[in-house]
Amino acid sequence: MRLVGLLNRDKSGMRHISGTMVSESVRTESKESSTTALTVSNLSKIYDSTAGRVIALDKINFSVKKGEFVSIVGPSGSGKSTLLNMIGALDRPTMGNVYINGIDIFSLDDSMIATMRNNLIGFIFQSFNLINRTTVLKNVKLPGTISGMSTGKSHERAMKILEALGIGDKANQKPVNLSGGQQQRVAIARALVNNPTIVLADEPTGNLDTKTGEDVFDMLKTLSHKYRRTIIMVTHNPELAESTDRSISIRDGRIEKDVTN
Ligand SMILES: Nc1ncnc2c1ncn2[C@@H]1O[C@H](COP(=O)(O)OP(=O)(O)OP(=O)(O)O)[C@@H](O)[C@H]1O
Ligand SMILES: [Mg+2]
Repeated sequence: MRLVGLLNRDKSGMRHISGTMVSESVRTESKESSTTALTVSNLSKIYDSTAGRVIALDKINFSVKKGEFVSIVGPSGSGKSTLLNMIGALDRPTMGNVYINGIDIFSLDDSMIATMRNNLIGFIFQSFNLINRTTVLKNVKLPGTISGMSTGKSHERAMKILEALGIGDKANQKPVNLSGGQQQRVAIARALVNNPTIVLADEPTGNLDTKTGEDVFDMLKTLSHKYRRTIIMVTHNPELAESTDRSISIRDGRIEKDVTN
């Protein structure tokens, strides 16, 4: 696994997200963008439904450095998943901005957001979210296929990552026939295939027994410390949170604490 810059500037000064041009006007030009992977600025999310109005996020501000491993903790309903979904552009905020590699993602149109999401962000969910009717290998290759990577290249990368995660021999099996820990490793491999800028993990150990959860966590830690990946992980496990570089506590949609561990 190697770190490769995903955004390349061409001679005209435009940046590409895998072939898609991003105008300089949507980027923040600062020295910070070389060391900052993510900036969340005044981010708010309000859900209005028949059941009432919920302020899920209330003016959240923080930045994450490249290579940092950050845990997000807080009680149930405090806004952790909502925050991760906004950072990953799975949903739009009511107010505020998210900058990834200096790109103001919500200033992009929906199709560019989809491209950006596929190329710059890797997701890992509590329930694995794998496609069970196809093989492990095809699951892992999928983000590569979507981003236009050649079949040969996505195959090579997927196999390399699966082998690095110790499940190369499972490539041709269906995910449903694997153990929980193995399925989560498939999800990690899938999250990495496009060399994302940020890996977002929402309770990645939540469905695993203690030992398997620790193994999966150790893998994320290795990714962060050895391969300098930027990782943001939601967890209810205080011990795992303390083992990350930094813990941000959320309560009622606000940052309550932000501590370096
Ligand atoms: N689609 C939605 N529509 C309406 N309200 C929502 C929606 N999604 C989340 N909420 C509300 O927003 C608040 C934050 O929810 P969120 O899922 O972010 O919490 P969480 O911290 O991830 O909780 P948990 O630890 O239980 O996963 C909650 O009050 C929740 O009920
Ligand atoms: Mg949640």
